[in-house]
Amino acid sequence: MTDQAIFLMCSPRGEESASYSLGSYVTSLLEEKGITINEYHIYKTLRNQTKIDEMIKSVNDSDIIVLSSPLYIDSAPTNTIKIMNIITQAVQEEKIGKKKRLLLAISCAGYLEFYHNNIALQIYEQFAKTNGFIWAGGLPIGAAGTYAMNTITSFLEQLAQLPTDDPRYEIYVKPTKIIDSVIKISVEKLSQGEIVPKDELKKLAFVAMPLEAYVKGGNQNWINWAEEIGTVEKLRDKPYEKKK
Ligand SMILES: Cc1cc2nc3c(=O)[nH]c(=O)nc-3n(C[C@H](O)[C@H](O)[C@H](O)COP(=O)(O)O)c2cc1C
Repeated sequence: MTDQAIFLMCSPRGEESASYSLGSYVTSLLEEKGITINEYHIYKTLRNQTKIDEMIKSVNDSDIIVLSSPLYIDSAPTNTIKIMNIITQAVQEEKIGKKKRLLLAISCAGYLEFYHNNIALQIYEQFAKTNGFIWAGGLPIGAAGTYAMNTITSFLEQLAQLPTDDPRYEIYVKPTKIIDSVIKISVEKLSQGEIVPKDELKKLAFVAMPLEAYVKGGNQNWINWAEEIGTVEKLRDKPYEKKK
């Protein structure tokens, strides 16, 4: 029976992060299936040995591990690697015993292209295999910042009224609906002790918007932010250049 899961939330941005938004969506749906969730924000956990010991015990008790992490420099961040090393050592020291455990990983890239996450997801898969966990699958999320700002549910609610010929339908509604459906199927499978079918994971292999739209949007966000803090006039300053 699947009745306990651990959520390893690996972003230093806490609840404001895409890793939290997407990972907690998965765990809230698991909770609806009657599965108990233990949540660890690993940046805090790593600072406290008692918390680390508690986390190890929770992995030992869990049937499902949900690891949700940002992508840093095309790879797993240092602290995500640290937590994997700690768990690996605990398995070697038999503090984490043998039992059927599924690992689902979510990798959140800032850039548009989902496939930047591929190496990180292979690292998480290797982590699972090294420790005798069953690799349930990896969700590669591109332009994940969208979900740092909005939860899947609130975003779909906000966008519900958009006509299908509105350009935002293609770049926001369609991708969010795909992610939502893959997550729901993943949860269904995990709660039954099964892995996520590869065909489902393949549905995440899309690029949500044209690159130019992403660059334009990014530039506009930069300007809006500068306006907010009153630095628009300074955006082109070059303080590192010597004044003549
Ligand atoms: C140090 C650092 C390195 C990053 N490297 C990449 C990268 O290689 N590729 C990418 O797509 N995004 C990169 N990003 C952006 C993050 O992956 C992106 O903002 C992600 O959504 C953050 O997830 P979070 O909100 O869960 O922290 C980087 C961000 C930081 C702070």
